Amino acid sequence: MDEKDSRSAKNFMDDDISRSAKNFIDDGISRSAENFMNEIICGDAREVLAGVPPEAFDLIVTSPPYADSRKRTYGGVHPDRFVEWFLPIAEELFRVLKPSGSFVLNIKERVVGGERHTYVIELILALREQGWRWTEEYCWHKKNSYPGRWPNRFRDSWERCLHFTKEKHFKMNQEAVMVPMGDWARSRLRNLSETDKRRDESGVRSGFGKKIVNWVGREFAFPANVLHMATECYTRNHSATFPVALPEWFIKLFSDEGDAVLDPFAGSGTSAVAAQNLGRRFLGIELRPEYCEVARKRSEEAAAEKKLPPGPAPGEAERQPSHPMSPAPRRTPVVSGPAPTRVSDAPGQIPLALFEE
Ligand SMILES: C[S@@+](CC[C@H](N)C(=O)[O-])C[C@H]1O[C@@H](n2cnc3c(N)ncnc32)[C@H](O)[C@@H]1O
Repeated sequence: MDEKDSRSAKNFMDDDISRSAKNFIDDGISRSAENFMNEIICGDAREVLAGVPPEAFDLIVTSPPYADSRKRTYGGVHPDRFVEWFLPIAEELFRVLKPSGSFVLNIKERVVGGERHTYVIELILALREQGWRWTEEYCWHKKNSYPGRWPNRFRDSWERCLHFTKEKHFKMNQEAVMVPMGDWARSRLRNLSETDKRRDESGVRSGFGKKIVNWVGREFAFPANVLHMATECYTRNHSATFPVALPEWFIKLFSDEGDAVLDPFAGSGTSAVAAQNLGRRFLGIELRPEYCEVARKRSEEAAAEKKLPPGPAPGEAERQPSHPMSPAPRRTPVVSGPAPTRVSDAPGQIPLALFEE
């Protein structure tokens, strides 16, 4: 973090902010997880987290500074020191996450001296040393990245969403993120071969197999680990927001209604909006007071919208097929890591295989 930009929670204590990091740290220890109700705390993540009781959160979803790539707007830390800077925060995150919880880290390595820096790769290794399990990597495909020309690479159209867990068995609501089967199913499943009707073991003896006939008549399939989502520019007050749909997807997948979600680098509060949209409790931590204000405002707006009478938006009922899981959210038992079923669902493409364990 730059000298100029590095402000500790203490610097903000006199700011005109309803809840300062100091207040939080003072009474945080004695607060139960149930009391974290849609708050944005202005302060340094490491300091604020020190006041949070252990195992308070079901899900952590966040996007930290990508080293110093936004040095001019909200500071950052040099790529060579990124891991060293992040690890103490990750240690706190480990402490405040429930054993059944997930930690989703949206990040991308920046280019330094004409090549990709390795800090994300080093971070993954270091987090594993710290005790985290690197369960999965989701790819966020940024559908609307700007065209451009670079001498040695093409435009950056994807970012990592690293999924870490504390345990092999964790909460995962796979049905909550199912996707429509799509038109391909109509033609593919019309005339089934004999192989389609029985379980077809994988030729590489992976233990996976496919039974195409199981998918006849189904409206929904499990998604792939590539998320095709456009970037959004909610506000010019923050230069690095992710789309609300991104945290929403992970919140649906890795938490239940009423669960507690944390974003330690809350920025403009996108995760806060997503959490509130989905009826989860939320704690956001953000270093810079101007972003805290933006996040609080967005969070309040989301809460106000939530109070509107429930019901589909005009036209929504016609557009959306009835989702098998759309009724009341279910408490899903903790399930084991790997998905029982995988479906390739690149938009417009025919899934090549429907695997089952
Ligand atoms: C990539 S941005 C997050 C953007 C956010 N996902 C959104 O949609 O608005 C990272 C944020 O981390 C904040 N930040 C940097 N260092 C921090 C620290 N030590 N503690 C808390 N927040 C920090 C920055 O001010 C910045 O707003």
